[in-house]
Amino acid sequence: MSKNFAEFPELRLRRLRQNATVRNMLAAPLPGPEKFVWPVFVVEGSGVKQPLAAMPGQFRYSIDTLVEAVGEVHAMGIKSLMIFGVVGPECKTPSGDYGWSPDGVVQRAVGTLKAAWPDLVIFTDVCLCEYTSHGHCGVLDGSGKVVNDHSLELLAKIALSHAAAGADAVAPSAMMDGQIAAIRQALESAGHQDTLLLSYSTKFASGMYGPFREAANSAPSSGDRKAYQADWRNLRSAMLESLLDESEGADMLMVKPSLFYLDIICRLKESTLLPVAAYNVSGEYSMLIATADRGWGDLKTLVRESIGAMSRAGTDIFISYWSNQYDKLLKE
Ligand code: PBG
Ligand code: ZN
Repeated sequence: MSKNFAEFPELRLRRLRQNATVRNMLAAPLPGPEKFVWPVFVVEGSGVKQPLAAMPGQFRYSIDTLVEAVGEVHAMGIKSLMIFGVVGPECKTPSGDYGWSPDGVVQRAVGTLKAAWPDLVIFTDVCLCEYTSHGHCGVLDGSGKVVNDHSLELLAKIALSHAAAGADAVAPSAMMDGQIAAIRQALESAGHQDTLLLSYSTKFASGMYGPFREAANSAPSSGDRKAYQADWRNLRSAMLESLLDESEGADMLMVKPSLFYLDIICRLKESTLLPVAAYNVSGEYSMLIATADRGWGDLKTLVRESIGAMSRAGTDIFISYWSNQYDKLLKE
């Protein structure tokens, strides 16, 4: 009988961790810059680069300053953006008409950015909350309830106007039933058969969007979004949201937020053959900065560990505010 060496003291797992070269050889690499999409906030005007108090390192840009900022991320190998329009109360109406204005700030930003950087892949957020006076993601009826089917028509108008402006991908985030089918149909009938449709398919009613709502000026003026965004207490419904969007014609699915929902990313990845995007949301960004600021952790370590976790769960595309700090925080 030969001796079994596959146990302590002969078996020592620390052998494989004894120096950086061995460790690095065995480590899954962090995702490269080509996997990142940088979410940006764009406002009217020129020369604007307004720091966001709740999201240090992020700004509201006018189109001209955004072109410059994109030059910097482009040099790091980040070739993709997600654009959010931010407008003042004078542009907001109950039905969010500004959203599909052909010379709206998002539409113009898309045109200018594509002209400056032709290899950029531009996603646009398609929702009503940035443009409605009440701040909800759909239109309201007399009693203040969000009306699903009428909202679909308006979301389709926004998506079409973004595609017409040259957006490579539209990303509906309103969590209305049937929004993917409605938008896919509208794109097809207008001849935009190459426009990518990234669904914010499993988007939870989360406490992690606070800094974003301040940045985008899009908090609901009354109530919350629980009657349309997914309930994090209901796993089966959360999965169904994404699977239905696949059947409605989405090209890519998304889980949002990401860090509290790594289990959903992992399950979704096993349930679909479509690419899965993770939205590493504002609260996740600001939370790590706040921790580091208090001296409770090292920012670079925290960012790398969190992106590594999202990657391990099966994330294909990272929609992340860390994108514009890729070289400092994520490069070896
Ligand atoms: C709007 C929208 C939100 C986010 C993306 N699109 C906010 C919300 O649903 O209230 C959140 C992004 C983030 O927190 O970084 N539909
Ligand atoms: Zn919205």
